[in-house]
Amino acid sequence: MGMTMTLVQLMMMMIILVLALATSKRVLASDPDILSDYLLPQNSSTVNATYFTYTGFREIFDQTPETFKATKASMVEFPALNGQSVSYTVLQFPPSTLFPPHTRPDATGLLFLLAGSLEVGFIDTKNVLHTQKLQAGDIFIFPKGLIHYQYNSDPQLRATAIAAFGSASARAVTVPPSVFTSGVDDVILAKSFKTDVDTIKKIKDGLTTS
Ligand SMILES: *[C@@H]1O[C@H](CO)[C@@H](O)[C@H](O)[C@H]1NC(C)=O
Ligand SMILES: *[C@@H]1O[C@H](CO)[C@@H](O)[C@H](O)[C@H]1NC(C)=O
Repeated sequence: MGMTMTLVQLMMMMIILVLALATSKRVLASDPDILSDYLLPQNSSTVNATYFTYTGFREIFDQTPETFKATKASMVEFPALNGQSVSYTVLQFPPSTLFPPHTRPDATGLLFLLAGSLEVGFIDTKNVLHTQKLQAGDIFIFPKGLIHYQYNSDPQLRATAIAAFGSASARAVTVPPSVFTSGVDDVILAKSFKTDVDTIKKIKDGLTTS
């Protein structure tokens, strides 16, 4: 009887251990928590409100970029974000431009469309595409780590959006260059995409010359 209890307890402990490991793995993919209100810049012992203010976006909506433009306010541009697990990117889409399929391994993205319209979508781990046509005022969420895109299909109007992230440094991995221009062997790519090496070379040429 005592022996049985010990085995049950052992199994319980193993289950708890596995759960703890799974949890700690999730925590590692997020910004670490800090043990103070905020982190001071190197070599300074005090800060004032200037440190907590970012003014780099003041003229951003006066600009009309000719190609798709993503402008970040992450902890590189705005050091006070260090340790706070949040950041912004302003996304500006001239007519018929897009942010190609990409993932954000560090953070969930919350996109708020300010002007224009955007076709957005993400693909979940069951390979299901969740797509939507947003209009100004709409908010769309891109779950952490899933491949997603935004496309301004309007041939005349610009689209402007703000993306908020649950990380002070939300890195983007863009799928086409990551897969095709990082040096993976042509034969491996041809087999992966069930096509021939010439087609792979054509795709690579398109990505490196545009
Ligand atoms: C910070 O202090 C270290 C030495 O205490 C010095 O080497 C470094 O240059 C300083 N950095 C800045 C940005 O002042
Ligand atoms: C705040 O600190 C900055 C330097 O970090 C300094 O240039 C500025 O004058 C300070 N402002 C006030 C109101 O003390």
